[in-house]
Amino acid sequence: MASIGVMMGLSGLIAAQDSAVIEFRNKGEMVGTLRLDEFDKIATASPLRIFEAHEQRARIYQAYPARQLFDQVFGEEWRAAEEIVFLCEDNYQPSIPVAKFLAYDAYFAFASADDSLFMLTNVLQNNEMVKLGPLYLVWDNLKSSELREEGAVDMPYQVIGIELASFAARFPKLFPPVKASQEVQRGFLHFRKYCIACHTINGQGGGKAPELNYPLSVTEYIKPEYLKRWMDNPSSIRYNTAMPALAAETPAREKVMEEIIAYLQAMRTVKRAPGKAPE
Ligand code: HEC
Repeated sequence: MASIGVMMGLSGLIAAQDSAVIEFRNKGEMVGTLRLDEFDKIATASPLRIFEAHEQRARIYQAYPARQLFDQVFGEEWRAAEEIVFLCEDNYQPSIPVAKFLAYDAYFAFASADDSLFMLTNVLQNNEMVKLGPLYLVWDNLKSSELREEGAVDMPYQVIGIELASFAARFPKLFPPVKASQEVQRGFLHFRKYCIACHTINGQGGGKAPELNYPLSVTEYIKPEYLKRWMDNPSSIRYNTAMPALAAETPAREKVMEEIIAYLQAMRTVKRAPGKAPE
């Protein structure tokens, strides 16, 4: 870890962190921007100990409570929104239901609470060493086994933008055909939870991993058994791959994988060209 600090210049890294700017949007409209060193004016930082799923060990971060921050930035009406989308420097883009922020305690970490650099070694992603700042969304998961079962889902790092959104309005091209089976509908929900932060379908979703539907669906060139293996154990297919396996703790894991494949198959019939043109 020290070598990266030396390479980038440790003081440079810290200065860049303080002056980092976070953008807040509500349904596409800019609400405001905040420099990281201004967060202290609206929220109270404290140390938070979590199970760090990316490293499979406990760690302590300095963090601001998410609900307090949202109340200050968006006003209390954020609670009536549907989803919160997080934009990240590495193009990871999870969309997390507001209900989860009301049911569990989320925090924005901005530093380690010990002497360690604000970085981690992502054991889920080929041991890649990643910086966490400016903001890193974490959950008070030591008191919730449900949250721990989710692994690193909904824990975006390098967050630079936070946006209130309606899922249907922001990601219309992800929806399966109207008459799709319940299996496909469940697969869609799983895909939203476990895949869409990295991958796009019809150009919508995260830009960290390949498009899976347009112009050719993965189900047209990868057999179902290998699609399952991509989720179950990606490195058994591609050496050094940056794709993480679906977390071992995922409830009903086998069924989840089958339903995701059903969703991907159904999307073959609703291919839409990526791009800004409305449908
Ligand atoms: C943390 C980011 C991330 C998540 C989450 C993720 N993937 Fe991936 N995925 C990748 C990356 C990166 C690649 C490219 C890997 C490579 O080529 O080595 C990839 C590759 C794939 C491929 C192979 C595509 C091809 O054409 O070769 C499939 C299929 C796939 N992912 C499906 C899924 C599914 C289904 C999920 C949800 C269960 C998922 N991925 C979740 C990052 C992710």
